[in-house]
Amino acid sequence: MEIIITKSYEEMSQLAAQMISRQLLKKPSSVLGLATGSTPVGTYKQLVRLHKEEGLDFSKVTTFNLDEYLDLAPSHDQSYRYFMDQNLFNHINVDARRVHVPYGHAENVEQFCEWYEAEMRRAGGIDLQILGIGGDGHIAFNEPGSSLGSRTRLKTLTKQTIEDNARFFKHEDEVPRFAITMGVGTIMEAKEIILLANGAKKADIIAEAIEGPITAQVSASVLQMHPHVTVLLDAEAGSKLKRADYYRWVFEEKKRLIPRMIGKMT
Ligand code: PGA
Repeated sequence: MEIIITKSYEEMSQLAAQMISRQLLKKPSSVLGLATGSTPVGTYKQLVRLHKEEGLDFSKVTTFNLDEYLDLAPSHDQSYRYFMDQNLFNHINVDARRVHVPYGHAENVEQFCEWYEAEMRRAGGIDLQILGIGGDGHIAFNEPGSSLGSRTRLKTLTKQTIEDNARFFKHEDEVPRFAITMGVGTIMEAKEIILLANGAKKADIIAEAIEGPITAQVSASVLQMHPHVTVLLDAEAGSKLKRADYYRWVFEEKKRLIPRMIGKMT
């Protein structure tokens, strides 16, 4: 795991966008795994800027989103499909036929989930997966207790997630109770993963996920088993890490001594 503690949300977002851009330059037909929530908004802004100002090309890219609320229409302003259109897809040259967001209105959810997994396999698997982390340690909507081998399926949200997400709805009652989500096992098959977290509210769970034991009670902790994860944090989200000084030192040393490795990190 490479832990990079940046100074600010802006710097975190810029680094994430640079890593994605580097991936697209290396492989224009990359398969990207995308996340919603407030965390990646700055990263998507940067990607839109790179597309508009520097011609970053998404025309051959395939995308798969992590999750979607059950029974929210794609046109609902809190659906993840709507979020992705507003924050990214409407502003870049991605081919709509290669964009995948779980369909919250699927009539047969089980069949849909099998199809979604098969589509990811057909596309050759996810090259680079972007993740946020929930206050309860979830990645996608894999709430505490999710099997570390789980696949795309229907999940019931925890009370904490419903409360966390209530800020986006008029009333807490409107927050959906269920979601279709990639599983922890699905996410772990991505070739490379970037986990993003910002703000003091994420400091405790980031410390648990990165420096605590691997447990299904904190889904994000399984990322410790993945061979290629970069954790990008702002200073607040990294503030409870016991080895924060060491992670900073590693990043600075790599920048200073091994300029070639900057490519890997940025
Ligand atoms: P947030 O959500 O980015 O809005 O904090 C993250 C998540 O729940 O995965």
